[in-house]
Amino acid sequence: MYEQRSHSALNHILETLSPDLTQHDLRYFLIRLGANFYAIHSLFERLYGHRADFDQQLHHLVERMAWSYVARPGNLRINDRAREDDYNWFFSQDLTGMALYTNGFASDLRDLQDKLDYFDELGINLVHLMPILRCPQGASDGGYAVSNYREIDPRIGDLAELKSLVSEMRKRKILLVLDVVVNHTSNEHEWAQRAQAGEKKYQDYYYMFDDRRVPDMFEQSLPEVFPENAPGNFTWDEASKKWVMTVFNTYQWDLNFSNPAVFIEMLDIILFWANQGADIVRLDAVAFLWKKIGTTSQNQDEAHLILQLMKDCCQVVAPGLLFIAEAIVAPSEVVKYFGEDAVVAKECEIAYNATTMALMWDAIATKNAKLLRQGLRSLPTKLEGATWLNYVRCHDDIGFGFDDHDIAIAGYNPPDHRRFLHDYFIGNHPASDARGIPFAENPKTGDARISGSLASLIGLEEAIEQADPQLIRSAVDRILLLHGIILSFGGIPLLYYGDELGVTNDFSYLQNLDKKTDNRWVHRPTINWQKAELRHTQGTIENMIFSGIAHLIRVRKSLPVLADFNNRNLLNLSNSALFGYSRFTVNKGDEPVVVLANFSTSQQALTNSELNEHIDTDRGQIFNAITGEEPVRFKDQLVLQPYEFLYLTRQKKGWT
Ligand code: GLC
Ligand code: GLC
Repeated sequence: MYEQRSHSALNHILETLSPDLTQHDLRYFLIRLGANFYAIHSLFERLYGHRADFDQQLHHLVERMAWSYVARPGNLRINDRAREDDYNWFFSQDLTGMALYTNGFASDLRDLQDKLDYFDELGINLVHLMPILRCPQGASDGGYAVSNYREIDPRIGDLAELKSLVSEMRKRKILLVLDVVVNHTSNEHEWAQRAQAGEKKYQDYYYMFDDRRVPDMFEQSLPEVFPENAPGNFTWDEASKKWVMTVFNTYQWDLNFSNPAVFIEMLDIILFWANQGADIVRLDAVAFLWKKIGTTSQNQDEAHLILQLMKDCCQVVAPGLLFIAEAIVAPSEVVKYFGEDAVVAKECEIAYNATTMALMWDAIATKNAKLLRQGLRSLPTKLEGATWLNYVRCHDDIGFGFDDHDIAIAGYNPPDHRRFLHDYFIGNHPASDARGIPFAENPKTGDARISGSLASLIGLEEAIEQADPQLIRSAVDRILLLHGIILSFGGIPLLYYGDELGVTNDFSYLQNLDKKTDNRWVHRPTINWQKAELRHTQGTIENMIFSGIAHLIRVRKSLPVLADFNNRNLLNLSNSALFGYSRFTVNKGDEPVVVLANFSTSQQALTNSELNEHIDTDRGQIFNAITGEEPVRFKDQLVLQPYEFLYLTRQKKGWT
């Protein structure tokens, strides 16, 4: 769109760009800047237009973007061009990811590079390295308290090693996801230290107050993220004699995004990592970016404006780069991180699908799909150009963040049901074989979340202890079932390291003073590579899970209809133990797939006529693409074994 004011501003900026910059070939940069500048200018103005230094800040923004463009390596620029042409590339069924701690999966970056074959073996082609930036020795929230955004934690490696890893990953066509912790820094970051020393410029990077008046106002409506370890949202800083806003841990200082300098710094950091070869950046805790008295300071409109502005700026410099929004918020809020009031995604292209994750855990506990189906009906459709990150477990706790209203429609009393889930997953229920641990219990609100590894939460740990092969098989089936869903649901499946080997809770964190008060460490394992070798030995648990998941990933890759083009219909099945959806065809020649899953401990049936509504069973045979065989049918019924799941299709293709 041509708009005089913004173009006049752009002309002024370009005419006064430093000659050091203009001696470079800025062709593509300038084309994209021209195309995006109206949006950039409007957003920057909405956020910062009231400031006296608005023009200078805007100039500064463009100059920093131009420098990032100049620094962008040639091969990444070529990649940018290719992705601009093939802009739906990340919807492909070809992608399957894994999230891991570099020093848990391997020992460091170099060792990780030596282990890349493992990803090929499993079928993983997107790797999310949990935070690798410099952070304090002790209190670092697993790297989510960064003390230097341009250096790698020396315990993990250095930039040269990352470069070598990236180039090997590119050869193997494995994508790299890096974390950028945008919402807060460590109190040991240089900005925080200079703020402590009294520098006004850096005090403005944070929210710092001389007395409790403003903090007390905030506290009236701010929830607590870590009520046990870090109650309250402000921490007294003795050095500066001020109260600092610290929504997460006391050592994680919230950045002040109402200061444009903070925005520009953070954009520059994102682009720095894009230029090191990150294909995707995971933006941490994005719901928290804007604080407002009288609100929860989550999901504020301005947080969305900031993300849109970041996206627009990145599209100018590094259009191949994608954003993952880590916003663990209500379904109606989470879709807004793709862009509010938009048709095509304009904020983050990818968002964690915490809703589906938590609902699947509900289905595991209740052994039926009632709430899973109801909750998914309330998940708004996402925009074009946007996709989910589907996962079963991650490095964080599980919160049952679904709607009370949906719980009621599913036929439960909401508080009772929440209590049931909590008790179930900590193993405090007669029907439970789960071994979770309560996390972040808040007596004030009655809230409680759950820590624990997939294997321990799903009953595998208990089954192993009982040494009961049938229980073990059943727990493995449940692990495969949940992966069968994330691999076919639509979106990028993101496995969590260790889950593919059935790694159980690890209590060694209790020996570590810095970790012992945060039980999320129980599910952040160190892989035992000797034990992992058992994946090659038939009949072992490691083998059953690893080969089962590897097989499912191959099946996924062979079924183009599993790519995410918003082509999913939830099935309204009469049997509430069953969960199902059809992935319908959008491209000619693809065959639809109907996914059916049995969440109960007993056999369950579905009538042909019900099935026929979704897949034409009369026009010849149907196959389960996972086995290549016809599903078991008797008379007019299709029967699923306990925890069985099927990818039904009419083409005998799938992976064989
Ligand atoms: C994100 C991370 C979590 C961390 C928090 C604070 O939610 O996933 O591990 O504690 O941000 O940085
Ligand atoms: C809360 C936050 C989420 C964070 C988690 C850490 O759920 O919303 O961002 O990852 O706490 O436990």
